[in-house]
Amino acid sequence: MTMHLKLEHVETYIDQYHILQGVSFEVPKGEVTVLLGRNGAGKTTTLRTIMGLNQASKGRIEYNGEEIQGLPTYKIASKGIGYVPEDQGIFGELTVEENMKVAIKKENDETNERLEYILKLFPDLKTFWKKRGGNLSGGQKQMLSIARAYVNDNDLLLIDEPSKGLAPIVVEKVMESIQEMKEKTTIVLVEQNFIMASTIGDRFYILDDGKTVHKGNMEELKENEQLRKQYLGIA
Ligand SMILES: Nc1ncnc2c1ncn2[C@@H]1O[C@H](COP(=O)(O)OP(=O)(O)OP(=O)(O)O)[C@@H](O)[C@H]1O
Ligand SMILES: [Mg+2]
Repeated sequence: MTMHLKLEHVETYIDQYHILQGVSFEVPKGEVTVLLGRNGAGKTTTLRTIMGLNQASKGRIEYNGEEIQGLPTYKIASKGIGYVPEDQGIFGELTVEENMKVAIKKENDETNERLEYILKLFPDLKTFWKKRGGNLSGGQKQMLSIARAYVNDNDLLLIDEPSKGLAPIVVEKVMESIQEMKEKTTIVLVEQNFIMASTIGDRFYILDDGKTVHKGNMEELKENEQLRKQYLGIA
């Protein structure tokens, strides 16, 4: 079976620092694969390396069986990978509507359908359609960021810590919507909130010091308190 996304022994330098030192994982189509690990483990760098925002110096990254490392970011994105960055990457000066318009690569029936779907999922965005991105609440910014990645004809979404800085009740809302989007798209989720990760995730990989050190089904991690303590610092 061809994996949707596959990383093999990926290494990445940022300046002279050897940040990723062997990251390997596989993402089957239709599933949510969660990347876990302490602060500074290399989760964000891994997503950035997949998108070509950081360059892999070694290893291989395959998307639908095709090697993508070394390609420019816009080409990687145009193959159908959407990226929701850790800092959300929305335009504070633009309205919600403008943020969505700028994000849409090619307007057609399908993007219109996707837009309709995502506005149903995040009704707040519709309510604040004319409001500037910078004036939204943290949760609404997160929803806008996810909506921007979802609206295009992507079949893989990389989402970096969507719960970061959000109140628990908002986390729950974001979690429910990702849970629903899961029916429509394959997801790689970086998430330190274990409730969110374990509710949505099908399988997990743990990164530590720039290397993947553990993998398994989410059920196994739920039952393995020792592993959670060792690598995630949570019980
Ligand atoms: N621009 C940079 N220059 C130097 N070092 C960097 C840079 N960006 C990241 N790093 C380092 O690379 C390591 C991995 O960072 P990364 O952001 O990928 O971790 P992370 O797992 O996403 O952490 P967090 O949970 O805090 O978001 C860290 O030690 C970080 O300090
Ligand atoms: Mg990060």
